[in-house]
Amino acid sequence: MILRNRLIIFLALLSKLAFSLVASSLKNDDNSFAPGEIWLDTDGIAINAHGGGILIHGDTYYWYGEIKKGNTYMPECNAEWGGSRVDVTGIGCYSSKDLIHWKNEGNVLPAETIIHGHDLHTSKVLERPKVIFNQKTGKFVMWMHLDSMDYKAARSAVAVSDSPTGPFQYLHSVRPNTGVWPENLPENERHFDNREEPLKRDFYVGQMARDMTLFVEEDGSAYHIYSSEENKTLHISKLSDDYLWPVGEYTRAFVGRSMEAPAIFKRNGKYYLIASGCTGWDPNEARSAVADSLTGPWKELGNPCVGEGKELTFRSQSTFVLKVNGKKEAYIFMADRWNKNDLEDSRYVWLPIEFDSADIPSIKWKDRWNLDELE
Ligand code: GAL
Repeated sequence: MILRNRLIIFLALLSKLAFSLVASSLKNDDNSFAPGEIWLDTDGIAINAHGGGILIHGDTYYWYGEIKKGNTYMPECNAEWGGSRVDVTGIGCYSSKDLIHWKNEGNVLPAETIIHGHDLHTSKVLERPKVIFNQKTGKFVMWMHLDSMDYKAARSAVAVSDSPTGPFQYLHSVRPNTGVWPENLPENERHFDNREEPLKRDFYVGQMARDMTLFVEEDGSAYHIYSSEENKTLHISKLSDDYLWPVGEYTRAFVGRSMEAPAIFKRNGKYYLIASGCTGWDPNEARSAVADSLTGPWKELGNPCVGEGKELTFRSQSTFVLKVNGKKEAYIFMADRWNKNDLEDSRYVWLPIEFDSADIPSIKWKDRWNLDELE
């Protein structure tokens, strides 16, 4: 009897393995995206690039993301809110011409293993890397969320490279912009919820900066968009011409709305934001918003997801929206399906964004889909 049960379990496991191998290899063979499945690179190894973003340079896509490798554990300092982690390995880069076949370009910003106080030490947190190209300096500039293990440092880190595939040279980390936390401001400056104009103050202590993205305008000016003020408010902060520093000018948006995982894109002259709520690795209901200008005012459009699974964003969290090269209307919502007990096994959920006649975006679940479906 025991033997029979074991045999059944063994056969079940075997068929599960066979199914997942077939399913994941299909992704590369039939040129389709299979959200939530294991995605293999051109070496047949699972792609490891979480909380990522894509840079288009020439005719190539470069996908940068957190390398989540090794043991997932719960540090005591994070136990209360469920902040499990893996030690920092670095930032992974993959390249592709078709968004389906990804070549591993390696760890382009490896963690520091010896000097404990270093920003990139393995004991830190390094998340949501985004890379943009600076036409003036000819440099590829990477910004990412840098934190202490307990997420109290709330900083952004900057690295540069002459090539999209690295190696990236680590430069510095900042708490962008002015910086005093509201309770330390004079009474009459504490409540700036109704302030319309961007804030401009001296570069001082700096604002908290956690989940983040970057956006480059057509004129080459770039913005750093990050969850600030204990993740309650999003800041849209202008970068210097070389993209290496904040200039000290920023707008507060979605005040008190706790937006995380911001992804911003532009379509037909309008700016769109897709973001998540604030529930750690657990998925929640996505939000979307539209604006005529990047710095707002932003109008919330609600959850862009429709159909079954919409309440938890199909068990995923936004990270980036990609406009596909050479297509008129192809925008891909890129998200992470985190596995908080085994972060290395977190998956990717990429789905097309549709727009109705009123230009409202929506995202539907698809088991499998193909770029040919998009205009
Ligand atoms: C999420 C955030 C992730 C990661 C996680 C840690 O809210 O979007 O990037 O920081 O918390 O629990």
